[in-house]
Amino acid sequence: MPASKEVSGFEALFKVAKNYQKKIKTAGNGAVLVVANEKGGIGKSTITALMASALAEVGLKVLVIDIDPQSSVTQMLLPNLEKLPSPAIGDLLTADFDGDNAIFPADVIQEVRAGTVYNAEALGKLFLLPSNPQLGKLNSYLATNINGRQILKFIVKELVIENKALVNEYDLILIDTPSQLDSIFAESALIAGDMVLMPTTPRPVDQWAIAQTIQKIREAKKVANRGLEIVAAVVNMYDPRSGLVESEGLEAVKAALGDRVVEPPIRSLKTIANSPAKSMSLLTSGQAQKPADDFRQTTTEVLARILARIELNNPSKAKGGR
Ligand SMILES: Nc1ncnc2c1ncn2[C@@H]1O[C@H](COP(=O)(O)OP(=O)(O)O)[C@@H](O)[C@H]1O
Ligand SMILES: [Mg+2]
Repeated sequence: MPASKEVSGFEALFKVAKNYQKKIKTAGNGAVLVVANEKGGIGKSTITALMASALAEVGLKVLVIDIDPQSSVTQMLLPNLEKLPSPAIGDLLTADFDGDNAIFPADVIQEVRAGTVYNAEALGKLFLLPSNPQLGKLNSYLATNINGRQILKFIVKELVIENKALVNEYDLILIDTPSQLDSIFAESALIAGDMVLMPTTPRPVDQWAIAQTIQKIREAKKVANRGLEIVAAVVNMYDPRSGLVESEGLEAVKAALGDRVVEPPIRSLKTIANSPAKSMSLLTSGQAQKPADDFRQTTTEVLARILARIELNNPSKAKGGR
């Protein structure tokens, strides 16, 4: 056990991560988790960055794919950049995969280095396929290209380089999406992913977006991605002190999403609001213990749901079974 015991929530997450790693070995590949909600500003990018960090910290090899022209998760994971990375995801979406000018995921993916980590296992575990604002210009190209919405899926699951597709190279892939799910980028992610993680808030104004997101997922399921499911929903920015409205909001989310809602909700915390560009440090060096605890618990619960779903889809062969 490489972790120090005093790090709250670490051991529980470590244990689920080891079971998950065992399971994906037999299943053949890791999960592709799409972080989606029609609404903006509810914590998709924050949760993606922190969850990816927490998973890398317990030794999973994680790839974050940023397919949002706003590039929030890129900025969170690669803080202090003078300019956003180039090449980035847009270059891959328009790339030739053969010929002299071919570019491949390995030309674009960067390693994310944590400042301080509790656990040496985290080193070399977190990677980012970054975005930059140029991505926004590809909307009409992708909309009119015969492969448009399928390219991301091809890059993640079918483009084989040195005998491996990305989905086999990483234990888990997280795709952070833009807010308007009718953008071609978010739609591409709903086609490329296996499961959806839906962050939301307890605020009444954010409730409509849940139904819209569910509808979008239903559409993706219809033809392009039959197996897509919401595997978990995370209620973010919960403030128990704000009283009745807040707890009614939480109940409304549960009414819409049932037992997929992960408990406890993530609290609304100044440490998160004030340090979006330093998300990684929330999980390191013992500072800001409260958000780190929240996120490890949430991540443990979400990973357990992902594991359960993989088990459902890949039942272990019972001895003497029919
Ligand atoms: N639990 C939280 N407590 C406080 N602030 C938060 C929390 N989660 C996210 N935020 C802040 O809310 C803003 C929007 O979050 P972001 O992750 O960019 O949302 P989205 O990706 O859904 O648009 C950011 O400034 C972020 O720091
Ligand atoms: Mg975002």
